Amino acid sequence: MRLGKSLWLEKRSIAMRLSSAPETRRQAAPVGAGFAQVRISLPLVLLLLGFIAALLSVAPTSRAETVDATYADLAPILTRRCVMCHSGEAAPLGLRLDSLAGVLKGSQRGPVVRAGDPAASELIRRIKGASQPRMPMTGPPFLSDREISLFERWIAAGFKEGADVATVTPAAPQPARPAPGEPVTYLHVAPIFATRCAKCHSDNGQMGRAPEGYRLVSYASTLSTADRVRVVPGNPAASEMVRRIRGQARPRMPFDGPPFLSEEEIRLIEDWIEQGGRNSEGEPAALPAGGRLRLHGTLANGWRLDRLQLTVTGTTRVDRAPRPGDYVQVRGRLGSDGSVHAERIRRR
Ligand code: HEC
Ligand code: HEC
Repeated sequence: MRLGKSLWLEKRSIAMRLSSAPETRRQAAPVGAGFAQVRISLPLVLLLLGFIAALLSVAPTSRAETVDATYADLAPILTRRCVMCHSGEAAPLGLRLDSLAGVLKGSQRGPVVRAGDPAASELIRRIKGASQPRMPMTGPPFLSDREISLFERWIAAGFKEGADVATVTPAAPQPARPAPGEPVTYLHVAPIFATRCAKCHSDNGQMGRAPEGYRLVSYASTLSTADRVRVVPGNPAASEMVRRIRGQARPRMPFDGPPFLSEEEIRLIEDWIEQGGRNSEGEPAALPAGGRLRLHGTLANGWRLDRLQLTVTGTTRVDRAPRPGDYVQVRGRLGSDGSVHAERIRRR
């Protein structure tokens, strides 16, 4: 995609140079006939370059659309876009996409590819968004039309292997970590949600309906503010998500732990929230001002919930005389400055 874009930019700049070239020639005209001839040939050269660039960008696509795809064509896409979640013991729904055998075996729900029938193949439905959540879960960006068509043609042609199947897919990479100084994005945290949380926090998960209606299967559902806000961009302490994975709020998540998340994983999620809950393309989320909050934790002096300062006013309803050290539930709303306006504080 990036390559396509840079080619497009290149073509565009060639086109722009082409359209500005006659100006140059006109200005250069008085210099002499010989010079003018040299100048005239320049636009021709650029035109030729433009044709070559156009040919280069068209040729692979037209070839790809007529020739059967093989697993060897898909493996690099799987490695780059799928294997970070779909590998190892904790692969979502048991679906491993890190080998040809894994792709053909499918998930605990059954096969995800049907020979000769791309439209009925769950894998195709997922990468096109006909089945939700759409794959890859880190999207957008999702797969390009060209990449989707490779998968379709591979299934249509009955799973051809292609060259060197044994070597095309390397061992499953560890979940990506940001390089020092690089911002944390959804790309970095999504594999944790996919492998540790989505089995319950999804439709038709282990617990049937997603607990509390909270689905951890896409960027949008993770940051959803529909019922209440569980991730407050820029404010980990006001995020019930962090309270649950740290065990400040009970029951601690993941609900089937121990093992719970490692300190490194918790930090990564905290940093992601602290830095604004960026999407896979690195854009921070908007603060859901006015959003409803429901937080759990330990009350501390001066109306703090652990280290989070609460805004408590005369209208705040305080139930069952909570005192510092008590485990409490706080219901409230998020102010436009990110502060937490407590509407009700209740000892649990
Ligand atoms: C960030 C983690 C993540 C990435 C990356 C990812 N997936 Fe998934 N995938 C999931 C999760 C979680 C589920 C289970 C969601 C659900 O349906 O409840 C899933 C489910 C699926 C299913 C449904 C299986 C079934 O039997 O219903 C398919 C097919 C699938 N993924 C294919 C892919 C493909 C192909 C890619 C790469 C293009 C990909 N996934 C990338 C996390 C991921
Ligand atoms: C085995 C099932 C299961 C797993 C795995 C799981 N959860 Fe939960 N989650 C639940 C249940 C059940 C609840 C409701 C618990 C309660 O508050 O009584 C819940 C509640 C939550 C809540 C509170 C939602 C709200 O609206 O207040 C958050 C946040 C949460 N989970 C995050 C996570 C995260 C993050 C992970 C992965 C690290 C995870 N969960 C893994 C079952 C699970």
